Amino acid sequence: MSEEESPRKAVKGYITRISIEEVLNKYGKNKVDFYLCGPEIMTNKLIEDLQYLGISKEKIHRALFLITAQNQANTSQKAQVHAKVFGKSYQFETQEGKTILQSGLDQNIPLPFSCQSGLCGMCKMKCTEGKVMMKSNQVLTEMDIKEGYILTCQSIPQSKSITIKNL
Ligand code: FES
Repeated sequence: MSEEESPRKAVKGYITRISIEEVLNKYGKNKVDFYLCGPEIMTNKLIEDLQYLGISKEKIHRALFLITAQNQANTSQKAQVHAKVFGKSYQFETQEGKTILQSGLDQNIPLPFSCQSGLCGMCKMKCTEGKVMMKSNQVLTEMDIKEGYILTCQSIPQSKSITIKNL
């Protein structure tokens, strides 16, 4: 479970090798099958973790989310980004076709992130100036978006200047 209280004592939080081990220790390796659903990058990582922990391929089942061409931004704008990350200010320019997160990380800007697939919400920041287009969003609510929150891992700039902050 991600945020909600678990109705059946499920493990809460991000899926990690440690949380998988908790499940294995509780139920036993041979009594558990794993059903994975999500984007390829995430499910590949989980399959790698499961196999590392000794789970056979036959016990791993997955469904993939694919990001289709129509979800891809077809216009991008080079933008000057002013970012406040944990109270510290940074400025960087985005590269054409790249997300704000990709451009920032390429220039060693310590933007927060995890999945880079629009699923975990770790890269959530508030956009207080400028416009972006998100390629995908499985995390933000309509209210979040109305309040200006964006996922930087999915955001392609649509204006020349963008201001974002995470706190
Ligand atoms: S890094 Fe996970 S949603 Fe952006």
